[in-house]
Amino acid sequence: MKPARYEAWYHTPRGRWIGDTEFDLLMQLLQPPAGASLLDAGSGTGYFSRRFAGAGLAVTGLDPDPAVIAYARERDATIRYLQGTMTALPFADASCDYCAAVTSLCFVPEPAAALRELWRVCRHGVVLGLLNRQSLLYRRKHERGGYRGARWDTAARARAWARDLAPPPRGLQLRYAIFLPGGSGMAQVVERLLPASVPAGGFLAVHIRK
Ligand SMILES: C[S@@+](CC[C@H](N)C(=O)[O-])C[C@H]1O[C@@H](n2cnc3c(N)ncnc32)[C@H](O)[C@@H]1O
Repeated sequence: MKPARYEAWYHTPRGRWIGDTEFDLLMQLLQPPAGASLLDAGSGTGYFSRRFAGAGLAVTGLDPDPAVIAYARERDATIRYLQGTMTALPFADASCDYCAAVTSLCFVPEPAAALRELWRVCRHGVVLGLLNRQSLLYRRKHERGGYRGARWDTAARARAWARDLAPPPRGLQLRYAIFLPGGSGMAQVVERLLPASVPAGGFLAVHIRK
């Protein structure tokens, strides 16, 4: 998908709702202090990199696709973007405060190895935005549009990846969002009413504390 087309989706009513909901959930989990550094692994067009930077974080975006890197740099020249893969990060151990991977690890065939890399380079923790296999979003959207080629994960799988990390995590939180994926007024009411612990949202946010 062309970067401009992907980004335009975030500016549709449904895309804005999904973007806002996911960003709020990730920030609730991370609660980073202003000025902390964050690696956005699989930054794509930079939508979440810009949101994190807007919240006061010092962001580096990383993505293997040169087209999205060029697009993201054009959108905001103040954010550092690098071409690369999260399976072999070009950073020293413990060189940033946090790592985020938002609907990007689901495109990596070796997720456990990629998570080990994110774990290696962060000081305080990793937040993942995964696609939840046990959701209405999966039934409606898998192998369609921007979800084509993505792996749909489960909480159990995320826990298994985390069990392999060294040093062992100090904590792991799982939260869900996007329960009714259509984004209608009703979907937004349901989203506000359902606790984020209900394991049925299409977006599975995983916070692993170091
Ligand atoms: C669906 S996009 C998500 C982009 C952005 N995080 C967002 O949520 O808007 C998935 C991104 O993951 C990137 N990606 C795929 N394999 C990757 C890898 N091995 N390392 C880092 N990023 C990767 C793709 O190039 C793509 O930009």
